[in-house]
Amino acid sequence: MSKTVYIRTFGCQMNAHDSERMMGILQEEGYFQTGNPDQADLIILNTCSVRQKAEQKFYSELGRIKSLKKRRGDLKIAVAGCIAQQEGKKIFRRAPYVDFILGPQNIQKLGDLVSGRVGPIAIEDNPAIALGDIPSRRTNRVTAWVTIMYGCNNFCSYCIVPYTRGRESSRPSKDIHSEVVDLAGRGYKEITLLGQNVNSYSSDTDFPGLLRRLERVGGIERIRFVTSHPKDLSQELVSAICELPKVCEHVHLPLQSGSNNILKSMNRGYTCDDYVKKVSLLRERSPGISITSDIITGFPGETEGDHLLTIKALKEIEFDGIFAFKFSPRPGTTSAQMQSQLAEGIKSERLSEVLDVQNEITARKNKSLEGTIQEILVEGGSGTDKEKLTGRTRTNKIVNFPKVDIEKGALVKVEITKGRQHSLEGKLQEK
Ligand code: 5AD
Ligand code: SF4
Repeated sequence: MSKTVYIRTFGCQMNAHDSERMMGILQEEGYFQTGNPDQADLIILNTCSVRQKAEQKFYSELGRIKSLKKRRGDLKIAVAGCIAQQEGKKIFRRAPYVDFILGPQNIQKLGDLVSGRVGPIAIEDNPAIALGDIPSRRTNRVTAWVTIMYGCNNFCSYCIVPYTRGRESSRPSKDIHSEVVDLAGRGYKEITLLGQNVNSYSSDTDFPGLLRRLERVGGIERIRFVTSHPKDLSQELVSAICELPKVCEHVHLPLQSGSNNILKSMNRGYTCDDYVKKVSLLRERSPGISITSDIITGFPGETEGDHLLTIKALKEIEFDGIFAFKFSPRPGTTSAQMQSQLAEGIKSERLSEVLDVQNEITARKNKSLEGTIQEILVEGGSGTDKEKLTGRTRTNKIVNFPKVDIEKGALVKVEITKGRQHSLEGKLQEK
């Protein structure tokens, strides 16, 4: 008899792809996916612990699911992802109605767990995860995530990821290559290579070598990657990005702060000046490249002067876009123990100042694209307007344009007619 599973994903792209892989494993166990938790035999919450807000969202969802379990005793509940890894057995104590706990380094055990062959908890450190292939059930038919490495060795002082996802381990390049060849054969046009720090990918080749190998896969039109660490952005990588036609002109390069004192205390391994030089090099070699970033406001000990250095850096660098967050102390990280934690009010104030400065820059940059012709990979119908199609530029900007009779996955030329804060409007160019 077939069973159904509902998966709710919190957090980053890595988690979103882990959910696709959990679905791939469960499909082999005879499960179908449902969008309705009321109909599910199994509910999986794939959690994120990078900031407190994500953690709170999970606990409130868990509370809602408790009432479902009360009504249906045979419902199984699994907690996966970074909170599962971090909290382990404590989740059973806090929520005894949870059946399985599965950390991100053990997702290949999900089938055994839900069928009772092992369990009910799998959170061991497992760098060997990089050596096995895990099936994926991808929902998007045009663009696909491909994991190239697991874990992180950087221990930025604010970050929980090295504790939840373990040490870095890279997948062999031949396995990545075979996965990409298979995706191309199934009609995928774009791949996004995933890792906490793709620049330190290292197996039988390095990251630029991997890009060069994947460039040759016929059928794939675009190659993207996230996330890059500024300290590891080498000259060779800049060359690969600039020389390889399929590698898109977009780098997500988290700066975190414009103050060298704060960068040091964050254990980032570069100064603001080093960072600016790398951005200049990228822009020199690839004019028009888009650079996006992450910023944390209100890190412990951040003075008004440090904050103003971040504002200054934003104005000087002019990112295409940023994600900005209030510092969130994560238990177990060194920065959570630092004296001089700042008040929530100051963190919020600085966050809105950062966002105000960046919003103006993003709007201006998007406006400057009006009248230009951009290559768009059509991803499907727009989520907000039935009359429109949506896709992205090579620089990763979302473009909506009036519906015409073209297939998902087509590469088309679109003239940008309006640059908005979060997206662009366009019209298809006549062929
Ligand atoms: N508090 C706030 N932001 C954080 N990030 C990671 N850890 C924290 C934290 N404790 C942000 C960083 C990182 C992004 C994925 O999340 O900016 O680049
Ligand atoms: Fe966290 Fe730093 Fe590793 Fe990114 S590089 S996952 S911020 S420790």
